[in-house]
Amino acid sequence: MKNNIKCELLSEQKIKEAVEKMGAQITSDYKGKELVLICILKGSIIFTADLMRAIDLPLKIDFLAASSYGSGTQSSGTITIKKDIDTDIKGKHVLLVEDIIDSGNTLSRLKKMFSEREAASVKICTMLDKPARRETEISPDYCGYTVPDEFVVGCGLDFDEYYRNLPYIGVLKPEAYE
Ligand code: IMP
Ligand code: MG
Repeated sequence: MKNNIKCELLSEQKIKEAVEKMGAQITSDYKGKELVLICILKGSIIFTADLMRAIDLPLKIDFLAASSYGSGTQSSGTITIKKDIDTDIKGKHVLLVEDIIDSGNTLSRLKKMFSEREAASVKICTMLDKPARRETEISPDYCGYTVPDEFVVGCGLDFDEYYRNLPYIGVLKPEAYE
């Protein structure tokens, strides 16, 4: 499997540094507010687990599963909610925790959905941002790193459900999915 990794893009240490930085910023921005972190499954599990421990505030977490991908590497454009949260977020400050923003379709749909449920605020925290392929006008409020237009795996990110357990972010060789 590791033979399919073209190169390491971001080391475990680099990810850790970004998580610490974002955690400190969120801690200061949400002081005194009721914060709910929403982990967007499955890709954000590792990032959410790390990020929540870097936030020094009382908070709640919940999980949502959405999908726009099949087993390929292109967004299908249609977002399906496969599992919704069960927390009442009315009046609460929602922070959507995402692994990577690509087309932006997933987050723009989710942001709208949570605003309609009358959250006090809805913001986005993403480990990675791939702005080259954006199809909607959406940008993260907190972002670890901007990445080039390549398919990346590791730290929760998968290709066909594999590689989520890689401790670093790697670039997948195109021949692995072409
Ligand atoms: P969007 O709706 O196109 O922004 O899709 C975002 C979702 O697509 C992410 O949460 C990932 O699950 C997946 N995705 C986008 N780019 C990559 C990538 O380079 N590697 C792995 N998954 C990706
Ligand atoms: Mg995802």
